[in-house]
Amino acid sequence: MHASKQQLAILSLAIVLIGMFVMPKCQLVLATHQSLSTSSSSSSSSSSSSSSSSSSCEFPAIFNFGDSNSDTGGRAAAFGQIGPPHGETFFHAPAGRYSDGRHVIDFIAESFGVPYLSAYLDSVGSNFSHGANFATAGSTIRPQNTTSYSPFSLKIQYNQFRDFQQYSQVFRHKDEVFKKLLPKAKYFSKALYTFDIGQNDLTGSFSPNMSPEQIKATMSDILDQIKTYIKSIYDLGARYFWIHNTGPLGCLPYVLNGLSLNATQVDQTGCGISLNELAQYFNFGLKKVVVQLREDMPLAAVTYVDVYSIKYDLISQANKYGFIDPLIACCGQGGKYNYDSHKGCGARYMDHGKEILVGSCKDPRVKINWDGAHYTDAANKWVFGRLENGLYSDPPIQLRMACYKQ
Ligand SMILES: *[C@@H]1O[C@H](CO)[C@@H](O)[C@H](O)[C@H]1NC(C)=O
Ligand SMILES: *[C@@H]1O[C@H](CO)[C@@H](O)[C@H](O)[C@H]1NC(C)=O
Ligand SMILES: *[C@@H]1O[C@H](CO)[C@@H](O)[C@H](O)[C@H]1NC(C)=O
Repeated sequence: MHASKQQLAILSLAIVLIGMFVMPKCQLVLATHQSLSTSSSSSSSSSSSSSSSSSSCEFPAIFNFGDSNSDTGGRAAAFGQIGPPHGETFFHAPAGRYSDGRHVIDFIAESFGVPYLSAYLDSVGSNFSHGANFATAGSTIRPQNTTSYSPFSLKIQYNQFRDFQQYSQVFRHKDEVFKKLLPKAKYFSKALYTFDIGQNDLTGSFSPNMSPEQIKATMSDILDQIKTYIKSIYDLGARYFWIHNTGPLGCLPYVLNGLSLNATQVDQTGCGISLNELAQYFNFGLKKVVVQLREDMPLAAVTYVDVYSIKYDLISQANKYGFIDPLIACCGQGGKYNYDSHKGCGARYMDHGKEILVGSCKDPRVKINWDGAHYTDAANKWVFGRLENGLYSDPPIQLRMACYKQ
């Protein structure tokens, strides 16, 4: 990696905006127990263990933990709203997401007939009856003490979840009005728990002059901490886990812009090799963590999802899939990647006495990257299509079967 520590820190700031998930199908019954029983309707790839069922899971709620790849309003609630043109394609207004539309987590919610998740931090207009989102843009697995990232590390998100679980029940019993805004107690053991976090740890914790030993030690600390907090959530009664690995960071316009790599430092797609290697190193470790967690959490079904491969496939074969310019941000301005950290998506500046808004491209529906760090609604929808079918999951089960242990 050839960026200076400072460069990477700057990069990480921008990534403060990273988030996740996507698309609908069946599932309208919200409140029933996932039975491990019989009576299948739809077929699926899952030929699960003991019980014979292949009926879809019925998750009555979703609890999500992560960074901007899956933030649905947490950072906006804490630090100020995200302005236009964010949200323009799908919500037709800013919606607390660093995207022109939905994240993968939104498509996941749609697919189970669950409303889009309200951010735990958002005190206005929120409805947590079918889940809550603890993700905030910029979040890391490890508590941050060296950068100005989000303070809402995974440990804080865990604490918030624990409080939410406890106090939601206190208030449900206090007043009728809360019964329509907070989840039933039994939902906590029937919900899907989703995770997409780690990207900001990578951009924030590593520098080119670290020794291999330092890299190894840092990585193992990051992985130990994600393992600890997932296990802690299990200890509070969670049973169904859906864990995304991290994406190809080296393909993000803001990363490429910050590093100014030469021809030997990028692959045939144009992505930065060293950052993608770092992401894959993390993913390799995360997969081992998941194997360990399956032992430590005997009552849980834990699915690891290779989001890296899905996104890399999309970026490296963009044209084949109906997209263009995979490394060029849709919303931005300047440079080879249409990205400038001083004139980011939505920024306003004066030019010859006239106010300019850094706006979006002509057709975000054919673009993959939205603002240099995050994906478009169209790309997230495509990613969800791949992610739900089980081909990139370990065990290889569809999203709608994620309640079955292999
Ligand atoms: C910051 O965090 C790192 C990793 O958790 C730790 O090694 C380091 O001592 C901390 N630094 C300060 C100033 O607390
Ligand atoms: C919260 O959302 C649920 C599910 O969409 C709905 O049934 C409930 O009425 C909502 N609560 C309020 C107070 O609107
Ligand atoms: C690319 O950059 C690296 C690191 O600065 C350097 O070692 C290498 O010689 C450069 N390669 C070319 C072809 O310029």
